[in-house]
Amino acid sequence: MTEEKEQRKDQRSTQPGIPEDPKITLAMSHIRHKILVISNKGGVGKSMLAVNLAVALGLRKKAVGLLDIDIHGPSITKMLGIDNPQESMQVVEQKIVPAEAYGIKVVGMGFLLGDSDAPVIWRGPMKTNVIRQFLGDVSWGDLDYLIIDSPPGTGDEPLTICQMIPRMDGAIIITTAQEIALLDSRKAVRFAQKLNVPVLGIVENMGWLTCPKCGERIELFGHGNGEQIAAGLGINYLGTLPFDPQIVVAGDSGRPIVLDSEKSEAGKVLHSIVDRVVELMS
Ligand SMILES: Nc1ncnc2c1ncn2[C@@H]1O[C@H](COP(=O)(O)OP(=O)(O)O)[C@@H](O)[C@H]1O
Ligand SMILES: [Mg+2]
Repeated sequence: MTEEKEQRKDQRSTQPGIPEDPKITLAMSHIRHKILVISNKGGVGKSMLAVNLAVALGLRKKAVGLLDIDIHGPSITKMLGIDNPQESMQVVEQKIVPAEAYGIKVVGMGFLLGDSDAPVIWRGPMKTNVIRQFLGDVSWGDLDYLIIDSPPGTGDEPLTICQMIPRMDGAIIITTAQEIALLDSRKAVRFAQKLNVPVLGIVENMGWLTCPKCGERIELFGHGNGEQIAAGLGINYLGTLPFDPQIVVAGDSGRPIVLDSEKSEAGKVLHSIVDRVVELMS
């Protein structure tokens, strides 16, 4: 057994609960960096960050996959402007072929649901099975990065995926300036640490708003909180994103803001976050 394999086995043994799946191990061995985006709460910008991170890595000529494991509230198909999700992800020779958008490969629950408003009422084992398929039965091919968007909190789905992937390379925690003030991100940090997933850092979202009339920067929840909390938690501070109506427009129109970065401050900050992530992973 090679040293690397041995190390991976060691890592697995610290994450009991799900037996090793050779199909997943094989598929994941073709992906250099797997990064999970997590938060304690919903609506703090996880999907926005995951989509922009993936697309921006693609712009840097990386081979990128984006996996949405938010089973109850998938949103990446919309954020990537994939209009007919059910037809975009196909099955060929018993393998799921990812959809493509802006040069990246995309898989997630949104493709199975289409435009349906019906809620997914699934218990743990069903979610575990679909996540297993998203990892082992997808022809991801050789990738530099797999970015994983998760549902809010530290529940079943992020736990399952951390246990299934032999080695998750890093977690990025995103939180709003408001939540940061409540020290709420500690939970997400502890979650990653418990699962031996290195925390790449924290992104503070909606840290300020630029007044559309006078251009003044309004920091609703104070200044420098992101940096302070990162220091307090002993993790990297990756940056603060403004509250920017253009992010909402980008999300709704299906054209990620990093594609038009020169037009917005949020786009520039996102690119600087992506540069830092690349640096941390190299
Ligand atoms: N910095 C921001 N400025 C403005 N709107 C934002 C910002 N970050 C996220 N949003 C919007 O807030 C909503 C929730 O973001 P989303 O990424 O879906 O959160 P989560 O995945 O954490 O639930 C989306 O409509 C998104 O476009
Ligand atoms: Mg989301």
